[in-house]
Amino acid sequence: MPRTLQDVVFVDGVRTPFGKAGDKGIYAQTRADDLVIKCIRELLRRNPTLPKDKVEEVAIAATTQIGDQGLTLGRLAALLSGLPNTVPGYSVDRMCAGAMTAVTNVASAIAFGAYDIAIAGGVEHMGRHPMGEGVDPNPRIIADKLVDPSALVMGSTAENLHDRFPALTKERCDAFAIGSQDKLAAAYAAGKIQPDLVPVATRHVDKGWGLATTDEPPRPGTTMADLANLKTPFRPHGNVTAGNAAGLNDGATACIIASQAAADEYGLQVKMRLVSWAFVGVEPEVMGIGPVPATEKALAKAGLTIDDIGLFDLNEAFAVQVLAMLDHFGIADDDPRVNKYGGAIATGHPLASSGVRLMNQLARQFEEHPEVRYGLNAMCIGIGMGGCVIWENPHHADYGKEA
Ligand SMILES: CC(C)(COP(=O)(O)OP(=O)(O)OC[C@H]1O[C@@H](n2cnc3c(N)ncnc32)[C@H](O)[C@@H]1OP(=O)(O)O)[C@@H](O)C(=O)NCCC(=O)NCCS
Repeated sequence: MPRTLQDVVFVDGVRTPFGKAGDKGIYAQTRADDLVIKCIRELLRRNPTLPKDKVEEVAIAATTQIGDQGLTLGRLAALLSGLPNTVPGYSVDRMCAGAMTAVTNVASAIAFGAYDIAIAGGVEHMGRHPMGEGVDPNPRIIADKLVDPSALVMGSTAENLHDRFPALTKERCDAFAIGSQDKLAAAYAAGKIQPDLVPVATRHVDKGWGLATTDEPPRPGTTMADLANLKTPFRPHGNVTAGNAAGLNDGATACIIASQAAADEYGLQVKMRLVSWAFVGVEPEVMGIGPVPATEKALAKAGLTIDDIGLFDLNEAFAVQVLAMLDHFGIADDDPRVNKYGGAIATGHPLASSGVRLMNQLARQFEEHPEVRYGLNAMCIGIGMGGCVIWENPHHADYGKEA
């Protein structure tokens, strides 16, 4: 049967406010699955022209797939979100790029023509499910010297990146981290973050009921002096600190991905068109370099160069890994095209959820910048991977035309 690929578009995305993991965090006694269910319900509420039975897949990512993040979360979240029981769902794990992978998975199925509309997202409650919970790595991965033991500790891989690229000094990382805090604070002040946050009712046996309406991790007003003497938990006299790394966080995201034809049919607004994507593997000891070859591959697949990209929304797992990417492509640390609303260092990084936060922020920036045709999301991924997704701006004059 002859087959024509369908154009795939990002329709809408939301997230919960991100919380600090741990007993004092806003979501300390909130279930992980409830966070992502809240996001799916909000998407359905915000897009009332989308019939619920026209959602044909729900792909939800979580890194730790046990307890309230287990049991084929995508399917259970679909049921608990009020979607008809005819809507299937599944779970995804690619660590930090879980939600990014959920999006590219369903996008590929849509392009292939398997279905037309899907919900993709992710959740990580790092308080209820600390990194590494229940893992049992095969000892041969170390014994056979497939990787250095540092490869399994993300902060240590960031220290390794400092060794690899001595030009990426702690001062540059701290300055980048302050930029992230400042840009997020400015974005909040300008009301750019709030429209895509879904408030979450919280309950705590001691504190009672609460309403999470804003991110908990940001530390606006952080200075270089504040960061100068923070501990370096991953190596004595190292460079990676709580100030220039993303923290340990709780949160969820979800988005609607559709064929262009289905978006037209149901009157859904198109925020971005998918151009290309790539995931690659790198040495696990320096997983933070992953976005570099991933971006090169995604650009090559699209027939674009880095100069064609007008906006970048990059995950900030660690300042050093973002700077490694920017240096590689000859982009300044404070280039105004990069992370306009700040990044994970300020806002938090609930692992598997973050990819959709990046996409949603890029979509908002596309609205503000019709002169930009292409934008890019990229992230590093545990055990040595990188992911990149390139999008086209529907507000650009040449949208949809041949590049
Ligand atoms: C770096 C890390 C270990 C820090 O964890 P933590 O010690 O629980 O972090 P905290 O928030 O308690 O911060 C530690 C200290 O730094 C201080 N601090 C953090 N950010 C700061 C800032 N911007 N300005 C000033 N002080 C700051 C805190 O106040 C705290 O001080 P205290 O010890 O006096 O209380 C943890 O956030 C981490 O592992 N991050 C990486 C997560 C990760 O690997 N993700 C996957 C990526 S691939």
